[in-house]
Amino acid sequence: MSVGTSRLHDSAVKHVTGQAIYTDDIPEPHGTLVGYLAQSKWAHARITRIDLAAVRTYPGVVGVFAAADIPGVNDVGPVLKGDIIFADSLVEYAGQALFLVVAADMKTARAAAKQAVVEAEELPALITIEQALAADSHLLPTETMKRGDAPAALTKAPQRLSGRVALGGQDHFYLEGQVSLAVPGEDGAVLVHCSTQHPSEVQHLVARALAIPDALVTVEVRRMGGGFGGKETQASLFAAAAALAATTLKRAVKVRLDRDDDMVMTGKRHDFLIDYDVGFDAAGTIQGLKLMLASRCGFSPDLSGAINDRAMFHADNCYFLEDVEVVSYRLKTHTVSNTAFRGFGGPQGMFAIELVLDEIARHLKLDPLAVREANLYGSSPRDTTPYGQTVEDNIAPEIIAELADWADYGRRRAEIAAFNASSPVLKKGLALTPVKFGISFTTTFLNQAGALIHIYTDGSIQLNHGGTEMGQGLFIKVAQVVATEFGVPLEQVRITATTTDKVPNTSATAASSGADLNGKAAQAAAIELRGRLAGVAAAEFGVAVEAITFKDGRVFGGDKSLSFGELAKKAHFNRVSLSAAGYYRTPKIWFDRATFSGRPFYYYAYGAAVAEVLVDTLTGEYKMTRADLLHDVGDSLNPTIDLGQVEGAFIQGAGWLTSEELVYDGKGQLRTHAPSTYKIPTAGDMPPVFNVKLVQNRPNREDTIYRSKAVGEPPFMLGIAVYQALRDAVASVAPNGLLPRFDAPATPERVLMAMEAVRAELPMSAPKVAAQ
Ligand code: MTE
Ligand code: MOS
Repeated sequence: MSVGTSRLHDSAVKHVTGQAIYTDDIPEPHGTLVGYLAQSKWAHARITRIDLAAVRTYPGVVGVFAAADIPGVNDVGPVLKGDIIFADSLVEYAGQALFLVVAADMKTARAAAKQAVVEAEELPALITIEQALAADSHLLPTETMKRGDAPAALTKAPQRLSGRVALGGQDHFYLEGQVSLAVPGEDGAVLVHCSTQHPSEVQHLVARALAIPDALVTVEVRRMGGGFGGKETQASLFAAAAALAATTLKRAVKVRLDRDDDMVMTGKRHDFLIDYDVGFDAAGTIQGLKLMLASRCGFSPDLSGAINDRAMFHADNCYFLEDVEVVSYRLKTHTVSNTAFRGFGGPQGMFAIELVLDEIARHLKLDPLAVREANLYGSSPRDTTPYGQTVEDNIAPEIIAELADWADYGRRRAEIAAFNASSPVLKKGLALTPVKFGISFTTTFLNQAGALIHIYTDGSIQLNHGGTEMGQGLFIKVAQVVATEFGVPLEQVRITATTTDKVPNTSATAASSGADLNGKAAQAAAIELRGRLAGVAAAEFGVAVEAITFKDGRVFGGDKSLSFGELAKKAHFNRVSLSAAGYYRTPKIWFDRATFSGRPFYYYAYGAAVAEVLVDTLTGEYKMTRADLLHDVGDSLNPTIDLGQVEGAFIQGAGWLTSEELVYDGKGQLRTHAPSTYKIPTAGDMPPVFNVKLVQNRPNREDTIYRSKAVGEPPFMLGIAVYQALRDAVASVAPNGLLPRFDAPATPERVLMAMEAVRAELPMSAPKVAAQ
């Protein structure tokens, strides 16, 4: 059986040998042109004049496209409108696209773009969350999630703490930037090769922009060089620009952003400002909690509604909050429209509650792990979330206990205290944090998928489904499902590119549900075909259909057997169709926006991490010295792929909270738009001791594909342990137990300043006392 075995990513060898074909590697049709997008230099301005005459006449320019050239809708907003393709009267962020210049090469297109005369009247710009809050600049209505009476519980609570923390955003830094190659066809049709997680949406939005039916637009993607949520909606503008030029000029047109343009022009993880007010008892059990989650959404709605909802849904993480009030402000700023990023708001909500628990623990001088454990979901009535879903599958307590044991948390905690007491300059920090992540799109209708399987008369199988491959291993997992259903070797299943003309009207590959949804859809198609083939075999062998089995590439019945290919040929001669579509929709889920309650998630995925850091107290520099991860994927479809997801997600989460800092200046210009200034983790940031394990013998209690669980996003939030370990290290230099407060990301500067602040009462050269 192929499912459950560690199979190599189908493209692993192609990835490392450079043979994998990404959008930019597709052999270009004869006469392919390139497009360059000219951008606004203002964050907020009313355009008074755009004169493109000199651009049009620039030698080598083949076409210039601006708002007036769009035959259809000048908007690629995915849910709500607002994502203008080409700005014409108003610009709302520095980097917003103004027009497209098309030429034979990029150098010409860029030089031509500079000839434009663009005049504008600059308007006051809101850049930061604080500015947007002060100006009451809301992009979407404020949402509140409430249970019990938080204000009363806070008043009654024996102890109370409050604080504010700023939590930074994150650039996706996919290795392959945004790119679309549009190839015009007959009758106004267009084929768009697009690096997108959501081909159907790109198809629909391109069609709207061109004012043509969806059926004239085909969007295809074999693979992305990473998406991480950054290609869930953000590919559409570039696809629409390329398709507009291609259909007008009747030439293939490619729009590919370089790294700087990609970082400036595309949305990122939402940064948040978090205010908390928490009441608790002597054991650290939370009695009342008020949270404010304010996020910078940028200039347009994009997916900000659902992302901020998910932040609210994860403000409980693994903990029971009886009297709670979470208020979510979705703020409009004159910055790029922030978007989906691994975890989709969940990490921000979870960061908040983990910070609150750590504050409580340090205030009470208790081990943060003990305080976390005291607050975990338990049996009824301590098993319902603030949004009313019962946590039926709670394995967080066992995972935490198993990890604490496996990672030697208790012993190392003591060792680190001893180390810190005797080490005046270098200090260590340790933390264990858990994760509970809800699986399903919270917008219920998105939880559906389709697949298409063809069996050819030689027995080879072509598999197609609506999911997209971005490196996460979705394609191999779905192929394993199909190979298992047919009892054939994995190699017999040919994986094909995602394309809107094979499986239509799909959802984005997002919310970690790619394998859950597409695996089930492909399984349905395979079961349908297997039934047909079994009928043919039963007639051929003279046995009952129930007696037919599929194994090792053969089909058995009684004492007879045929190869899978021989049976396929027989089916064809018997005029039995060898092609089938499969469909799946997730059961049991619903959500009522009006009351902010329901069962938005089919199930939860769990995990926990222990991180250890070593900090230089003179400079604030630090490194992660060890990490131990234990993560729940139910019954794994492919353990090697899942381990890769867990490791990568954890490191990406750690990067978010440590080195990856986005800096906008007062004019709304992104100052960190290249790897020179924006630091993602590198191989050298991997902890030298890195132990990663999947939870064993814990099948999903829901009927998911082979009882597996989604893995793409949940382990991202294991990275929170690294931030908490840094807090632990900073706390070790606080002589009077001052709380180790610093914003995220915890850059060395912030860590140093936090240490300076907590030890400010003492001369800095008093390590004996500082090492309490
Ligand atoms: N892994 C790789 N290698 N590259 C990616 O772009 N995206 C993540 C995650 N893992 C990503 C990845 C995100 S944001 C999601 S939602 C899931 O993969 C999507 O794929 P899945 O639903 O098949 O898990
Ligand atoms: Mo992932 S943020 O849901 O694309």
